[in-house]
Amino acid sequence: MMKLKNFTSVEDVQQPAALVEQARLLKQQPLAYHHLGRHKTLGLLFFNASLRTRMSTEVAARNLGMEVMVLNMNADTWKLEFNDGTVMNADRQEHIKEAAAVVSQYCQVLGVRSFPSLTDRQADYGEQIITSFVQYATVPVISLESATLHPLQSLADWLTIEEHKPVARPKVVLSWAPHPKALPQAVANSFLQWLRLAPVELVLAHPPGYELAPQFSAGVATTHNQQEALAGAHFVYAKNWSSYRDYGQVLQVDEDWRIDEEKMSLTDRGYFMHCLPVRRNVVVTDEVLDGQRSLVIAQAENRIYAAQAVLKNILEHADT
Ligand code: CP
Repeated sequence: MMKLKNFTSVEDVQQPAALVEQARLLKQQPLAYHHLGRHKTLGLLFFNASLRTRMSTEVAARNLGMEVMVLNMNADTWKLEFNDGTVMNADRQEHIKEAAAVVSQYCQVLGVRSFPSLTDRQADYGEQIITSFVQYATVPVISLESATLHPLQSLADWLTIEEHKPVARPKVVLSWAPHPKALPQAVANSFLQWLRLAPVELVLAHPPGYELAPQFSAGVATTHNQQEALAGAHFVYAKNWSSYRDYGQVLQVDEDWRIDEEKMSLTDRGYFMHCLPVRRNVVVTDEVLDGQRSLVIAQAENRIYAAQAVLKNILEHADT
């Protein structure tokens, strides 16, 4: 039996494949455990905007019988200070030590969504916000995406690949794609962290300069040639991320890395995947996104069962 205390990374999960299977079973019977969370409350704390994470996690909690409270942090609450020993005489009114302890009095599980600064690599990869909540909350903490990881997304993506794979060991390509603004590396980092543990042939494709942090990319087959990567692929996961090397920068690249029908024709009837939100005709063309082989809505649906599997494990083993 799996024991989840917190869920901030695949490293918190003893058996990732078993968690995917639990998510798959919950999808068949979403209300099978609707008494498990009775009289328990999930607090969802958002430091950033969200559509899918916010709604799917709330549906997951309600399927388990939980109450849900949502806070838009900083906008709805006092501004939080995370550093120790600070003289709090500026614009931050409340320290994480009190805030995390206080919300733990009202909620039996917490979810936290934060983004990186994309200006300070050391600070972002230090994950101060999520690790501070884990440190100072007295209840389990779930990452709803942190500065460098998005584990619920990757769990849903693995489930989606399991459901659609045409062969036992499909070829899965994570391809960098263009975007006008600097975006986090979190989805890509997590995708590699999780899918390298899955029964897939994993390939990473990106232009020079977009190398991911070595702790995620080491050992993954990597190419700067997108067309070569797409040949024979069963799944094409497109995602933009800003540079890790030139931290947070959008680099000039000559090649067009947008996914279109011509590129998808190189695959083995490949499915298109993206975590959403996606910029149409920048990351991917309308034809691919609206086509029969697009899985983006299935991925979004599976966010419910990913969150539900995580919550179920936490509720089954929580002391609260
Ligand atoms: N994929 C994802 O996390 O979407 P949101 O940012 O809308 O939650």
